[in-house]
Amino acid sequence: MLQLTSCNRMLTILLILLSPYLLDDQKSRFLFHDMSAEVVDSNPYSRLMALQRMGIVENYERIREFSVAIVGIGGVGSVAAEMLTRCGIGRLLLYDYDKVELANMNRLFFRPEQVGMTKTDAAVQTLSDINPDVVLESYTLNITTVQGFETFMSSLKNKTFRPSKEGSGVDLVLSCVDNYEARMVVNQACNELNQTWMESGVSEDAVSGHIQLLIPGETACFACAPPLVVASGVDERTLKREGVCAASLPTTMGVVAGLLVQNTLKFLLKFGYVSPYLGYSSLKDYFPTMAMKPNPQCSNAACLQRQKEYILAKPARDAAANAKMEAEASAAAADVPLHVDNEWNISVVDDSEQENTGGTSSDALPEGLTRELPSADEFPKHSTYGATDTAVDDLEDLRRQLDALNAD
Ligand SMILES: *[C@@H]1O[C@H](CO)[C@@H](O)[C@H](O)[C@H]1NC(C)=O
Ligand SMILES: *[C@@H]1O[C@H](CO)[C@@H](O)[C@H](O)[C@H]1NC(C)=O
Ligand SMILES: *[C@@H]1O[C@H](CO)[C@@H](O)[C@H](O)[C@H]1NC(C)=O
Ligand SMILES: *[C@@H]1O[C@H](CO)[C@@H](O)[C@H](O)[C@H]1NC(C)=O
Ligand SMILES: [Zn+2]
Repeated sequence: MLQLTSCNRMLTILLILLSPYLLDDQKSRFLFHDMSAEVVDSNPYSRLMALQRMGIVENYERIREFSVAIVGIGGVGSVAAEMLTRCGIGRLLLYDYDKVELANMNRLFFRPEQVGMTKTDAAVQTLSDINPDVVLESYTLNITTVQGFETFMSSLKNKTFRPSKEGSGVDLVLSCVDNYEARMVVNQACNELNQTWMESGVSEDAVSGHIQLLIPGETACFACAPPLVVASGVDERTLKREGVCAASLPTTMGVVAGLLVQNTLKFLLKFGYVSPYLGYSSLKDYFPTMAMKPNPQCSNAACLQRQKEYILAKPARDAAANAKMEAEASAAAADVPLHVDNEWNISVVDDSEQENTGGTSSDALPEGLTRELPSADEFPKHSTYGATDTAVDDLEDLRRQLDALNAD
């Protein structure tokens, strides 16, 4: 510890001595250039690389290879972009048609002096200052127009950043838009490209939200079950009506952005459990989770095509899953006993165990604790990941959960 501190001090002194010789720009590039694990105060990545040392993430540095597209740079999208930038993501593609307004200042990220700038340009300005290592691309366009959609598609296909990548040029698309049409457009693009994406939303009363993982052919697409992803239960098409002013809270948007980027990191860096659907009710502090299978009667032709491919690939998937299960079974032999002082008998539930039993963390309450939620009885207990009988059941479960969210 002592050694560390003196090491920090020496580096700081060195930097102070060097600083007159470095231009502002060079100074930041000098500091950010290398994603090293060295524990010094001047290393912006040391606390992230510690995830690797602690065994949470196998290879954190891989984050440099990933491209993430964010559609909608509003209250959720801008915060998600900042989080990914600070995490050292390789490349961000930002899409929005809008300009920064004073009415956005109750949210995070944008500053009053950026009023009048396009949201994408203002975001690039702020994000490149925060971390010059991230490749930023700004697309000021409306993806629901014919031209906007074409540019959107071709930008997603651009593989210059990592030519060896399979599929499209991006690893994940994050939808952070505030209306139904734009979500359907993202859904269309991702179904056509076989592109995994995550959808996010905050209700117009600003007190609940959700995130959802959409893997074309494997999980329900946005057209498979349109009204159910809206936690408020309000038709999104009415949201943008003249004279209707939706509420917004920086807290709810920050929570949803945090859940979205957490799920993104887990998906990209392959750690923990990637939630297929995670709702958030701020009034009850309730987080329902859910998995949804695609609808074989989906109206989206590209979705049906992806469903067909997914079914055809089943034998290969089963073989891979079996091999993984056998490997895990032999590793599970070395189990650690619970701590003797554990008076509440709280235990950590293993991911693989969770999948096998079909339980969630909220189902598996430790003994000695009970639920105090007034409407807890209404929430079905079987309707979670790994226990998905049919798509219809899942949708009804989700509808019940969402109704419960909106009650009182
Ligand atoms: C985006 O384009 C669609 C389709 O042309 C149009 O209906 C919508 O008003 C546009 N939105 C904005 C904010 O320009
Ligand atoms: C493709 O992506 C790279 C960055 O990865 C960018 O420099 C280039 O301009 C893009 N090409 C097109 C045609 O957008
Ligand atoms: C579609 O994407 C999934 C997940 O990324 C992948 O496993 C699958 O092979 C892809 N399908 C095709 C036909 O490329
Ligand atoms: C925890 O487990 C011990 C031994 O199994 C039991 O005696 C004790 O009552 C449990 N405590 C709670 C709070 O359930
Ligand atoms: Zn579908």
